[in-house]
Amino acid sequence: MTVTRVETIKDFRQLLNGLRTEGKQVGFVPTMGYLHDGHASLMRAASDDNDVVAASIFVNPLQFAADEDLEDYPRDLQRDSELAEANGVSVLFTPTVDEMYPFGPVLTSVAVPQLSDKYEGATRPTHFSGMATVVSKLFNIVGPCRAYFGEKDYQQLAIIRRMVADLSIPVEVKGCPIIREPDGLAMSSRNTYLNPEQRQAAVVLRRSLDVGVEAIGAGARDRAAIEAEMLAVIDAEPLAQADYVAIVDASSFDVPATLVNDVRLLVAAQVGRPRLLDNCGVSVK
Ligand code: PAJ
Repeated sequence: MTVTRVETIKDFRQLLNGLRTEGKQVGFVPTMGYLHDGHASLMRAASDDNDVVAASIFVNPLQFAADEDLEDYPRDLQRDSELAEANGVSVLFTPTVDEMYPFGPVLTSVAVPQLSDKYEGATRPTHFSGMATVVSKLFNIVGPCRAYFGEKDYQQLAIIRRMVADLSIPVEVKGCPIIREPDGLAMSSRNTYLNPEQRQAAVVLRRSLDVGVEAIGAGARDRAAIEAEMLAVIDAEPLAQADYVAIVDASSFDVPATLVNDVRLLVAAQVGRPRLLDNCGVSVK
Protein backbone atom coordinates (compact mmCIF):
# COMPACT_ATOMS: atom_id res chain seq x y z
CA MET A 1 0.00 0.00 0.00
CA THR A 2 1.40 3.44 -0.84
CA VAL A 3 1.58 6.10 1.81
CA THR A 4 -0.56 9.22 1.43
CA ARG A 5 1.16 12.32 2.75
CA VAL A 6 -1.01 15.14 4.09
CA GLU A 7 0.11 18.50 5.41
CA THR A 8 -3.06 20.11 6.73
CA ILE A 9 -5.10 19.29 9.81
CA LYS A 10 -8.28 19.46 7.73
CA ASP A 11 -7.09 16.91 5.14
CA PHE A 12 -5.71 14.56 7.79
CA ARG A 13 -8.99 14.64 9.77
CA GLN A 14 -11.13 14.16 6.67
CA LEU A 15 -9.09 11.18 5.52
CA LEU A 16 -9.22 9.46 8.89
CA ASN A 17 -12.91 10.23 9.45
CA GLY A 18 -13.61 8.63 6.07
CA LEU A 19 -11.69 5.51 7.07
CA ARG A 20 -13.47 5.31 10.44
CA THR A 21 -16.83 5.63 8.70
CA GLU A 22 -15.87 2.50 6.76
CA GLY A 23 -15.43 0.83 10.17
CA LYS A 24 -11.63 0.83 10.14
CA GLN A 25 -9.66 0.91 13.40
CA VAL A 26 -6.90 3.51 13.37
CA GLY A 27 -3.51 3.12 15.06
CA PHE A 28 -1.40 6.27 15.46
CA VAL A 29 2.39 6.69 15.78
CA PRO A 30 3.57 10.25 16.54
CA THR A 31 7.24 10.97 15.75
CA MET A 32 9.68 13.79 15.09
CA GLY A 33 11.10 12.00 12.05
CA TYR A 34 14.58 10.88 11.05
CA LEU A 35 13.08 7.46 11.49
CA HIS A 36 15.00 4.37 12.55
CA ASP A 37 14.07 0.84 13.50
CA GLY A 38 12.76 2.01 16.91
CA HIS A 39 10.08 4.07 15.14
CA ALA A 40 9.55 1.27 12.62
CA SER A 41 8.82 -1.19 15.44
CA LEU A 42 5.99 1.08 16.66
CA MET A 43 4.59 1.25 13.13
CA ARG A 44 4.70 -2.54 12.80
CA ALA A 45 2.99 -2.98 16.19
CA ALA A 46 0.29 -0.51 15.10
CA SER A 47 -0.15 -2.33 11.83
CA ASP A 48 -0.56 -5.68 13.64
CA ASP A 49 -3.34 -4.31 15.89
CA ASN A 50 -5.26 -2.00 13.52
CA ASP A 51 -6.77 -1.77 10.04
CA VAL A 52 -5.03 1.51 9.25
CA VAL A 53 -1.84 3.13 10.56
CA ALA A 54 -1.41 6.89 10.63
CA ALA A 55 1.91 8.44 11.63
CA SER A 56 3.04 12.01 12.09
CA ILE A 57 6.38 13.68 11.59
CA PHE A 58 6.55 17.01 13.36
CA VAL A 59 9.59 18.50 15.04
CA ASN A 60 7.62 20.25 17.74
CA PRO A 61 9.16 23.61 18.72
CA LEU A 62 7.21 23.66 22.00
CA GLN A 63 9.30 20.85 23.45
CA PHE A 64 12.70 22.37 22.60
CA ALA A 65 14.31 25.03 24.80
CA ALA A 66 15.99 28.01 23.12
CA ASP A 67 19.47 26.48 23.43
CA GLU A 68 18.44 23.03 22.12
CA ASP A 69 18.76 21.46 18.66
CA LEU A 70 15.40 22.51 17.09
CA GLU A 71 16.95 24.14 14.00
CA ASP A 72 19.37 21.34 13.19
CA TYR A 73 17.32 18.38 14.42
CA PRO A 74 18.06 15.79 11.68
CA ARG A 75 15.46 15.62 8.90
CA ASP A 76 15.02 13.41 5.81
CA LEU A 77 11.43 13.33 4.66
CA GLN A 78 12.00 11.22 1.56
CA ARG A 79 13.72 8.44 3.49
CA ASP A 80 11.15 8.71 6.30
CA SER A 81 8.22 8.32 3.87
CA GLU A 82 9.81 5.17 2.43
CA LEU A 83 10.51 3.69 5.87
CA ALA A 84 6.97 4.51 7.05
CA GLU A 85 5.44 2.94 3.95
CA ALA A 86 7.60 -0.18 4.27
CA ASN A 87 6.36 -0.62 7.85
CA GLY A 88 2.64 -0.42 7.22
CA VAL A 89 1.86 3.32 7.47
CA SER A 90 -0.81 4.42 5.01
CA VAL A 91 -1.30 8.04 6.09
CA LEU A 92 1.63 10.30 6.99
CA PHE A 93 0.91 13.71 8.52
CA THR A 94 3.75 16.20 8.00
CA PRO A 95 2.41 19.60 9.07
CA THR A 96 4.41 22.84 9.10
CA VAL A 97 4.86 24.78 12.33
CA ASP A 98 2.38 27.40 11.01
CA GLU A 99 -0.21 24.71 10.38
CA MET A 100 0.09 23.38 13.94
CA TYR A 101 0.47 26.74 15.68
CA PRO A 102 -1.20 29.30 13.40
CA PHE A 103 -1.56 31.88 16.18
CA GLY A 104 2.12 31.77 17.14
CA PRO A 105 2.96 30.81 20.72
CA VAL A 106 0.22 28.67 22.28
CA LEU A 107 -1.77 30.13 25.16
CA THR A 108 -3.17 26.75 26.16
CA SER A 109 -0.87 24.05 27.38
CA VAL A 110 -1.10 20.66 29.03
CA ALA A 111 1.12 20.10 32.04
CA VAL A 112 1.57 16.96 34.10
CA PRO A 113 3.63 18.27 37.05
CA GLN A 114 5.17 15.83 39.55
CA LEU A 115 5.79 13.29 36.80
CA SER A 116 7.45 16.00 34.69
CA ASP A 117 9.64 17.76 37.23
CA LYS A 118 12.32 15.14 37.79
CA TYR A 119 14.92 13.36 35.64
CA GLU A 120 14.43 14.63 32.06
CA GLY A 121 12.34 17.51 33.36
CA ALA A 122 15.06 18.67 35.76
CA THR A 123 17.37 19.63 32.88
CA ARG A 124 14.55 20.41 30.41
CA PRO A 125 11.92 22.26 32.48
CA THR A 126 9.55 23.11 29.58
CA HIS A 127 10.07 19.94 27.58
CA PHE A 128 7.29 17.74 28.92
CA SER A 129 4.53 20.34 28.85
CA GLY A 130 5.49 21.07 25.22
CA MET A 131 5.40 17.35 24.50
CA ALA A 132 2.09 16.74 26.33
CA THR A 133 0.52 19.74 24.57
CA VAL A 134 1.43 18.54 21.07
CA VAL A 135 0.48 14.92 21.81
CA SER A 136 -2.95 15.95 23.11
CA LYS A 137 -3.37 18.21 20.05
CA LEU A 138 -2.41 15.32 17.75
CA PHE A 139 -4.85 13.01 19.57
CA ASN A 140 -7.59 15.60 18.99
CA ILE A 141 -6.73 15.80 15.31
CA VAL A 142 -6.36 12.07 14.69
CA GLY A 143 -8.99 10.63 17.02
CA PRO A 144 -7.00 7.37 17.08
CA CYS A 145 -8.21 4.13 18.59
CA ARG A 146 -4.72 3.23 19.76
CA ALA A 147 -1.48 5.20 19.97
CA TYR A 148 2.01 3.72 20.10
CA PHE A 149 4.97 5.02 22.12
CA GLY A 150 8.41 3.61 22.85
CA GLU A 151 9.57 2.60 26.31
CA LYS A 152 12.84 4.25 25.23
CA ASP A 153 11.35 7.51 26.52
CA TYR A 154 9.94 5.94 29.63
CA GLN A 155 9.13 9.16 31.49
CA GLN A 156 7.36 10.50 28.39
CA LEU A 157 5.29 7.32 28.22
CA ALA A 158 4.34 7.60 31.92
CA ILE A 159 3.30 11.24 31.40
CA ILE A 160 1.17 10.40 28.36
CA ARG A 161 -0.54 7.53 30.19
CA ARG A 162 -1.36 9.84 33.10
CA MET A 163 -2.55 12.65 30.80
CA VAL A 164 -4.86 10.25 28.93
CA ALA A 165 -6.26 8.93 32.23
CA ASP A 166 -6.65 12.37 33.85
CA LEU A 167 -8.34 13.93 30.79
CA SER A 168 -10.29 10.79 29.74
CA ILE A 169 -8.87 10.98 26.23
CA PRO A 170 -10.47 8.16 24.22
CA VAL A 171 -7.29 6.40 23.15
CA GLU A 172 -5.55 3.22 24.24
CA VAL A 173 -1.87 3.93 24.87
CA LYS A 174 0.47 1.09 23.92
CA GLY A 175 4.07 1.03 25.21
CA CYS A 176 6.56 -0.83 22.98
CA PRO A 177 9.99 -2.28 23.86
CA ILE A 178 13.27 -0.44 23.25
CA ILE A 179 15.01 -1.32 19.98
CA ARG A 180 18.80 -1.41 20.25
CA GLU A 181 21.88 -1.48 18.04
CA PRO A 182 23.75 -4.81 18.07
CA ASP A 183 26.12 -3.55 20.81
CA GLY A 184 23.21 -2.54 23.07
CA LEU A 185 22.97 1.22 22.40
CA ALA A 186 19.31 2.27 22.31
CA MET A 187 18.44 3.59 18.85
CA SER A 188 17.86 7.33 18.74
CA SER A 189 17.71 9.98 16.01
CA ARG A 190 20.29 11.89 18.09
CA ASN A 191 22.87 9.07 17.84
CA THR A 192 23.76 10.60 14.49
CA TYR A 193 25.51 13.44 16.40
CA LEU A 194 28.07 10.98 17.86
CA ASN A 195 31.57 10.74 16.37
CA PRO A 196 33.10 7.22 16.21
CA GLU A 197 34.78 7.42 19.67
CA GLN A 198 31.67 8.84 21.29
CA ARG A 199 29.59 6.18 19.56
CA GLN A 200 31.72 3.49 21.20
CA ALA A 201 31.58 5.23 24.57
CA ALA A 202 27.79 5.56 24.36
CA VAL A 203 27.31 1.88 25.10
CA VAL A 204 28.19 2.75 28.72
CA LEU A 205 24.53 3.58 29.38
CA ARG A 206 23.49 0.02 28.61
CA ARG A 207 26.41 -1.31 30.69
CA SER A 208 25.34 0.77 33.66
CA LEU A 209 21.82 -0.69 33.41
CA ASP A 210 23.26 -4.21 33.17
CA VAL A 211 25.21 -3.65 36.39
CA GLY A 212 22.00 -2.55 38.15
CA VAL A 213 20.05 -5.54 36.83
CA GLU A 214 22.83 -7.94 37.89
CA ALA A 215 22.99 -6.41 41.39
CA ILE A 216 19.22 -6.81 41.82
CA GLY A 217 19.45 -10.36 40.45
CA ALA A 218 22.14 -11.10 43.04
CA GLY A 219 19.80 -9.96 45.82
CA ALA A 220 20.67 -6.26 46.30
CA ARG A 221 17.64 -4.19 47.40
CA ASP A 222 19.19 -0.96 48.67
CA ARG A 223 18.27 1.55 45.99
CA ALA A 224 20.94 4.14 46.76
CA ALA A 225 23.72 1.53 46.82
CA ILE A 226 22.66 0.08 43.46
CA GLU A 227 22.41 3.56 41.94
CA ALA A 228 25.94 4.30 43.17
CA GLU A 229 27.25 1.16 41.46
CA MET A 230 25.50 2.12 38.24
CA LEU A 231 26.83 5.67 38.41
CA ALA A 232 30.39 4.41 38.90
CA VAL A 233 30.14 2.61 35.54
CA ILE A 234 29.28 5.86 33.73
CA ASP A 235 31.86 7.87 35.69
CA ALA A 236 34.57 5.42 34.54
CA GLU A 237 33.94 6.41 30.90
CA PRO A 238 35.83 9.67 30.21
CA LEU A 239 33.65 10.60 27.20
CA ALA A 240 30.40 10.36 29.19
CA GLN A 241 29.07 12.76 31.84
CA ALA A 242 26.29 11.21 33.87
CA ASP A 243 23.21 13.37 34.26
CA TYR A 244 21.17 11.03 36.48
CA VAL A 245 20.90 7.41 37.50
CA ALA A 246 17.64 6.51 39.20
CA ILE A 247 15.57 3.52 40.21
CA VAL A 248 11.86 4.29 40.41
CA ASP A 249 8.59 2.44 40.80
CA ALA A 250 7.70 1.43 37.24
CA SER A 251 4.25 3.00 37.24
CA SER A 252 4.13 5.71 39.93
CA PHE A 253 7.72 6.95 39.49
CA ASP A 254 7.96 6.95 43.33
CA VAL A 255 11.45 6.37 44.69
CA PRO A 256 11.53 3.31 46.97
CA ALA A 257 14.34 3.10 49.58
CA THR A 258 14.16 -0.69 49.38
CA LEU A 259 13.25 -2.19 46.04
CA VAL A 260 9.93 -4.06 45.68
CA ASN A 261 7.64 -5.07 42.79
CA ASP A 262 8.24 -3.68 39.31
CA VAL A 263 10.96 -1.06 39.15
CA ARG A 264 12.50 0.87 36.28
CA LEU A 265 16.19 1.71 36.09
CA LEU A 266 16.75 5.05 34.34
CA VAL A 267 20.02 6.56 33.12
CA ALA A 268 20.92 9.72 31.21
CA ALA A 269 24.35 10.95 30.20
CA GLN A 270 25.90 13.53 27.94
CA VAL A 271 28.16 11.88 25.39
CA GLY A 272 29.65 14.61 23.23
CA ARG A 273 26.83 16.76 21.93
CA PRO A 274 23.73 14.64 22.66
CA ARG A 275 22.24 13.74 26.01
CA LEU A 276 21.45 10.06 25.71
CA LEU A 277 18.77 8.15 27.62
CA ASP A 278 18.23 4.53 28.41
CA ASN A 279 16.21 2.44 30.84
CA CYS A 280 15.09 -1.06 31.62
CA GLY A 281 12.52 -2.79 33.79
CA VAL A 282 13.11 -5.34 36.55
CA SER A 283 10.53 -7.33 38.51
CA VAL A 284 11.79 -7.59 42.07
CA LYS A 285 10.77 -10.94 43.55
P1 PAJ B 1 10.69 10.78 18.64
O1 PAJ B 1 11.91 11.03 19.46
O2 PAJ B 1 10.76 10.88 17.16
O3 PAJ B 1 10.13 9.37 19.04
C1 PAJ B 1 8.91 8.90 18.50
C2 PAJ B 1 8.54 7.62 19.22
O4 PAJ B 1 9.53 6.63 18.93
C3 PAJ B 1 8.51 7.76 20.75
O5 PAJ B 1 7.38 7.08 21.26
C4 PAJ B 1 9.82 7.13 21.18
O6 PAJ B 1 9.78 6.60 22.49
C5 PAJ B 1 9.94 6.01 20.13
N1 PAJ B 1 11.32 5.53 20.04
C6 PAJ B 1 12.44 6.27 19.82
N2 PAJ B 1 13.53 5.47 19.87
C7 PAJ B 1 13.10 4.21 20.13
C8 PAJ B 1 13.75 2.95 20.31
N3 PAJ B 1 15.06 2.83 20.24
N4 PAJ B 1 12.98 1.86 20.57
C9 PAJ B 1 11.62 1.98 20.66
N5 PAJ B 1 10.96 3.15 20.50
C10 PAJ B 1 11.68 4.25 20.24
O7 PAJ B 1 9.25 11.11 21.26
C11 PAJ B 1 9.04 11.94 20.37
O8 PAJ B 1 9.52 11.81 19.09
C12 PAJ B 1 8.20 13.19 20.61
O9 PAJ B 1 8.33 13.58 21.95
C13 PAJ B 1 6.70 12.99 20.27
C14 PAJ B 1 6.03 11.92 21.13
C15 PAJ B 1 6.53 12.66 18.77
C16 PAJ B 1 5.95 14.34 20.52
O10 PAJ B 1 6.50 15.38 19.80
